[in-house]
Amino acid sequence: MRDEFAKIPRVKIGNLPTPIEAMPRLAAQLGIKELFIKRDDLTGLAFGGNKVRKLEFFFAEALAHGAKTIITAGAVQSNHCRQTAAASAKFGLNCILVLAGQVPQRKSANLLLDQLFGAEVIWCDRENREAKLQEVFQQAQTDGRRPYLIPYGGSNATGVLGYTLAVFELLEQGFIPDMIVFPSSSGGSQSGLVLGSQMAGVDWEVLGISVDAAESILRSKINLLIQDAIKKYEFNIPQYKPEQIYVNDQYIGKGYGIPTEADIKAIRIFARAEGILLDPVYTGRAAAGMIDLIQKGIILPETKLLFWHTGGNPALFAEQYESLVI
Ligand SMILES: Cc1ncc(COP(=O)(O)O)c(C=O)c1O
Repeated sequence: MRDEFAKIPRVKIGNLPTPIEAMPRLAAQLGIKELFIKRDDLTGLAFGGNKVRKLEFFFAEALAHGAKTIITAGAVQSNHCRQTAAASAKFGLNCILVLAGQVPQRKSANLLLDQLFGAEVIWCDRENREAKLQEVFQQAQTDGRRPYLIPYGGSNATGVLGYTLAVFELLEQGFIPDMIVFPSSSGGSQSGLVLGSQMAGVDWEVLGISVDAAESILRSKINLLIQDAIKKYEFNIPQYKPEQIYVNDQYIGKGYGIPTEADIKAIRIFARAEGILLDPVYTGRAAAGMIDLIQKGIILPETKLLFWHTGGNPALFAEQYESLVI
């Protein structure tokens, strides 16, 4: 591990390093020479996923501050909230989740798991999610519950550390791809991958397939997150290059959590060619984007390609998606 990280508090939550596996049948089907998958769906905690890497830093900070209650926010089927609830249980802390959207009739998938982990759920409209989160935090403070706030998606300077360190994990595994493709939403994972890649001085391409935001918005968010992380942790990076933040927003369709035909097709292709499960919100969309870019020849057949699986599989069992993929 790099020296810069040795002094940053971190607790162990995930099963790391996650495996890198070849996907030869899928590569042949798509007409690409080398296709690999980084299995962050296997990070361990509560069915795994990318948020585990961020939570290792958040929980270290929370415990150092003597926090008793973890508060965060997300969508109804938030993977981030499910994993935050599980980590709270693991460290004996209370958890409050501010969930934005309609209260569903049946509490399935991630929402079911949030409650199994004993999280308190507070509902709000999507538009006033931030205000509600701040209000809940202030109230918990007034009530003496010693709250620690994790932002939406776990994306701030601390959250960026998870995937910055993941780059060094990949290098320690001796794996050097030409290109890394993955889903990007609140931007924390991509910020880490871009920052880590620049710190390591590698020149592979890090391509985030946007799940919901326009390219310009997501790129500027990622840029700010990277700058915040460099400042907060005083990372030594000779020349930060924001122009290396690559986002593709061509696969958003009708928006967040509404799978396109191509998303569903991609989920089937991965399942039937490699026995790999993708989710209907994030990885299915990133895979659809990757497949399309290969088919259009934008990703060249000789590319050594790494698909970074970020988890999210429990959403396959959410009420609204159950019958979609079969
Ligand atoms: C399964 C999965 N993949 C990808 C992402 C996107 O990560 P980020 O919010 O760091 O961009 C999320 C975020 O919620 C997620 O749950």
